[in-house]
Amino acid sequence: MTTSKPAEMSKTHTTHTTKQDGASGQTLTVPKALATPTDLASADVRAITEALNPLVADLFALYVKTKNFHWHMSGPHFRDYHLLLDEQGEQIFDGIDLLAERVRRVGGTTIRSIGHISQLQTISDNNEAYVAPAQMLSELCSDNQSLAQLMRNAHEICEHANDVATASILETLIDEAERRTWFLFEAAEKSATRG
Ligand SMILES: [Fe+2]
Repeated sequence: MTTSKPAEMSKTHTTHTTKQDGASGQTLTVPKALATPTDLASADVRAITEALNPLVADLFALYVKTKNFHWHMSGPHFRDYHLLLDEQGEQIFDGIDLLAERVRRVGGTTIRSIGHISQLQTISDNNEAYVAPAQMLSELCSDNQSLAQLMRNAHEICEHANDVATASILETLIDEAERRTWFLFEAAEKSATRG
């Protein structure tokens, strides 16, 4: 997105200019009707939006993968793992709306489709016909770790922009991702050593 727009687009789109732009000088172009008023600098709105939308996409990708493994779990620990992944899926799903609505509250726009998710996601899909239980757990464990790292990066951007509300939500979501990592790590260890 750039500050230059076609003439017809300028009738319906606007940029956030409530405060002096930051060092990058780059503003976010959004439809006028969706330009939520904010005291944040337009460059900060852009930075926050660009930090959060890939996280929303990754939460969707991780949600689907967690449900995929919940549905296709097998083996002697089926019940435990099936239930664990259901619980984790619900927690991940709840985080999606929290972050997407933060983007809207600061005046950005967010995810619109499965295609949009696939453009932004960094967590890879798993379309294998069969995945062993231990592999499922360790893959989700590492996905949650990388998600926590990406959320920490986004937290830095929010702190820099003094967007304390998004930073606060990210703190909770990081804690949740680390809790999921912990449970998956423990379950994966036991699965690897005890079968
Ligand atoms: Fe289920």
